[in-house]
Amino acid sequence: MRKTFICGNWKLNHDLETTRATLREMIQKLPSSRDVEVGIAPVTTTLFAACEVAKGSRIHIAAQNVHHAEKGAYTGEVSCAHLRELGVTHVIIGHSERRQYFGETSGEVAQKTRAALDMGLVPIVCIGEQLEDREAGRTMAVIDEQLAPVLDVLHPPDVPTLVIAYEPVWAIGTGKTASAAQAQEVHAHIRAQVRSKFQEAAEQVRIQYGGSVKPSNAKELLAEPDVDGALVGGASLTADSFVGIIEAVS
Ligand code: PGA
Repeated sequence: MRKTFICGNWKLNHDLETTRATLREMIQKLPSSRDVEVGIAPVTTTLFAACEVAKGSRIHIAAQNVHHAEKGAYTGEVSCAHLRELGVTHVIIGHSERRQYFGETSGEVAQKTRAALDMGLVPIVCIGEQLEDREAGRTMAVIDEQLAPVLDVLHPPDVPTLVIAYEPVWAIGTGKTASAAQAQEVHAHIRAQVRSKFQEAAEQVRIQYGGSVKPSNAKELLAEPDVDGALVGGASLTADSFVGIIEAVS
């Protein structure tokens, strides 16, 4: 049985005080039943404070990015060890904005995934096609290209830990959501790819959907058999809408 996992991605939003206040409000408003796993990925400079506020609560704190090396001459970067010592437990890897604006490649995504797993962090690996890929019938090909290098660095015991976020780029921040059927089609394909390499362990991999998820559409998307959670941008910024999503799928 895969536990539903809803993670908020705050991107470059919320200062320190807003981060603390929003997390406190979420902790207070979250339903007490723990049938849904919950995470928030705040801005890097607020991770320390976020971990302090979230300590003992049901909210996991996730980073939005990480460097694959443990240490060395990598000016401006943060390692998995640095995240771990703060109390961060999850890390988003290969978000489409990182691929698009920072030139992150699927090879780098695989290296980061390996590093996260080695450090005991849960990687949330993002994959997804652009609108022109979908229109050209290349959705599954793009998914396979992005997924293969990640599957190549996994060992069988890593597989149940892995979280994959399918985020069609055309649905991110646009208000345009993939239909539940479109999401399910790609999620089933992703699981089949994992299964072809790791057999039944694929049943334990959680596949989140991301792209304009909100309280009003979360239930329908998550009713699909292979949609195991959501990576939520805009609708995770306030406690009311984020908690609304958790309530809708609880
Ligand atoms: P959105 O972002 O919910 O604002 O579309 C999702 C994401 O980028 O993870």
